[in-house]
Amino acid sequence: MREQLLIIDFGSQYTQLIARRVRELGVYCEIHPCTRPWSEYLTPECRGMILSGGPSSVHDEGAPTIDAGLLGKKFPVLGICYGMQLMTHLLGGRVGPVHEREYGRAELVVDEAAGIFKNMPGSETVWMSHADSIEAPPPGFRPLAHSNGSPVAAMASDDNQLWGIQFHPEVAHTPRGKEILENFVFGVCGFRGDWTMHSFIGEAVERIAETVGGGHVICGLSGGVDSSVAAMLIHRAIGDRLTCVFVDTGLLRKGEAAEVIETFGSRLGVNLESVDARAEFMGALTGVTDPEVKRKRIGETFIRIFEKKSKSLGTFEFLGQGTLYPDVIESVSLKGPSATIKSHHNVGGLPEDMDFKLIEPLRELFKDEVRAAGEELGIPHDMLWRHPFPGPGLAVRILGEVTESRADTLREADAIFIEILRQMDWYDKVWQAFAVLLPVNTVGVMGDSRTYENALALRAVTSQDGMTADWARLPHDLLDAAAGRIISEVRGVNRVVYDVSSKPPGTIEWE
Ligand code: XMP
Repeated sequence: MREQLLIIDFGSQYTQLIARRVRELGVYCEIHPCTRPWSEYLTPECRGMILSGGPSSVHDEGAPTIDAGLLGKKFPVLGICYGMQLMTHLLGGRVGPVHEREYGRAELVVDEAAGIFKNMPGSETVWMSHADSIEAPPPGFRPLAHSNGSPVAAMASDDNQLWGIQFHPEVAHTPRGKEILENFVFGVCGFRGDWTMHSFIGEAVERIAETVGGGHVICGLSGGVDSSVAAMLIHRAIGDRLTCVFVDTGLLRKGEAAEVIETFGSRLGVNLESVDARAEFMGALTGVTDPEVKRKRIGETFIRIFEKKSKSLGTFEFLGQGTLYPDVIESVSLKGPSATIKSHHNVGGLPEDMDFKLIEPLRELFKDEVRAAGEELGIPHDMLWRHPFPGPGLAVRILGEVTESRADTLREADAIFIEILRQMDWYDKVWQAFAVLLPVNTVGVMGDSRTYENALALRAVTSQDGMTADWARLPHDLLDAAAGRIISEVRGVNRVVYDVSSKPPGTIEWE
C-alpha cells in the first residue's frame, strides 16, 4: 500500500509548501483542514503527521484545534510554529506571548543534534514568524534548541514520537530546512520515500482502468498542460475508449490548433475529434465589448458545442478533467483574495450538472508534478512549459469588440513577441508574456504618408503563482527587436508600448 504523511492545516500561508517539500522527498502527503474529523482521512497507511503553522494564538477564542487523541496514535507528529504551540497547549505545557514578535531570520542554537537535528550541531539560520512561544514544554518533553526570542525553539517527547519546532523548515529562508524535514520523514517516521512520478502514473492508470471498467470517457482537450496530461493518463489506461474533443474557438495563439491536432491526434495516437467552431465564437462575440459578457458568451458557447459534439459521438459515462490539487484543497480560511480571484477564472469549464461521472486523475498533484508526469507520458516539453493561457483566450486580450481580423492581427504580433523571447532566452524566465490589442488608433508615418492605426501593448510578468506579479525587466534590446518587427510585419499596428504595472494593483490580463 502507498504509505502517506498527513498535514493538518491551521491556515498557514506555507501549508502547500510543506506538502511540496515532503513530496520532493518521494513521500506522498495530503493536506486536511484542522476542522475535518480525522476519522474521514486517517488510514492505516499514515506513517507520520505534520501540524502546520497558522495565524492564530492558542489562547484566542475559537482558536483552531484538533482532537488531542491524534497525538497518541502510532505515528510520529511534527508541529511547526502554531502546530508546536497547539501541541504544547493540548498536552499540558505553557504557551505565552513573546516580548517582541520574532519575525524574519533568526539564529537557532541546536542543543541536541539528534532526531530531526541529526548531523546539525552548532547553530543554524532559520525563518521565524511568531507572536507566542513555548514558556514550558509539556511534561515528558525536553527542549532541543533555542534562539534569542525562543528559549524553547524546538522540543521532543521522551519517546521521540512528538516533535515541535518554532521556525519554518519549509521556506527557502531556512537553508537546512530540507534536511530537518528529511530527518523527520526518514529518520523519525521511517518512510521509504518511493513515491515517484513513475509510481504515480502506474497507480493512476490502474485506478482509472478499474473505475472506468468497460465504459467510455470523453475529455475536453484545450492544449493546456492540465487537460493534456489528464488525457494522456486516461489514454494509457483505456486507449481508444477515450475520446478527446478539441474545440478551435478561433481565440487561440498562432499555430496552436494545428499543434494540438498534430501532437495528440497523429503523434500520441489519441482518439481526437476536433471541432472548427471559429465562426460560432465570433458570432457569439459580435458587438460585445464588456469583458465579463465576453467570458460568459465564450463559456456558454463552449458548453453548447461540447455537448453537441459529445452527443454526436455516442454514449460516454465519464468525463475526464484536469483538476489539480490546489483546486481541491479546502483552505482553512475560505474567504480572502485567492477565493475571489479564482471564481471569475472558472469560465470555460464545464458545468457541474452534466450527466457524467468525473475522472480527475490529477486531483492529487501540484502543477510541477503534473509537468513531470507529462514528461514521462511523452508530451512535448514545449507544450508542458508553455505560459499559462486564459480560458477565454485572445478575447480578453482584444480590448473592445473581437473580430476575426483583430484576432489575426493580435495572433501575429503575439507570435513575434514570443519568438523573440525564445530567441533571446527570456521565455522561461517570465511567468507569462503576451500582446494586447488596444482599441486605440494612433498616428504614425510610413514612407511619405501618415498612418492612423492600432496601438498594441506588450506584457511580460514574473510570478510564482499568478496571484501576485511583477512586470518583467526585459532588456531594451529585446523590446526594441519586438516592437520593430511587429510594426514592420503586422499590418494594422503602428505603435507598440510596454506595460510596466505590477499586480496588485494591476492584473496580469488587461480585461
Ligand atoms: P489576472 O489577470 O487576474 O490573471 O491577474 C491571473 C492568471 O489567470 C489567468 N486568467 C484567466 N484564466 N480564465 C482563465 O482560465 C479567465 O477568465 C482568466 N482571466 C485571467 C491569467 O492569464 C493569469 O495567468
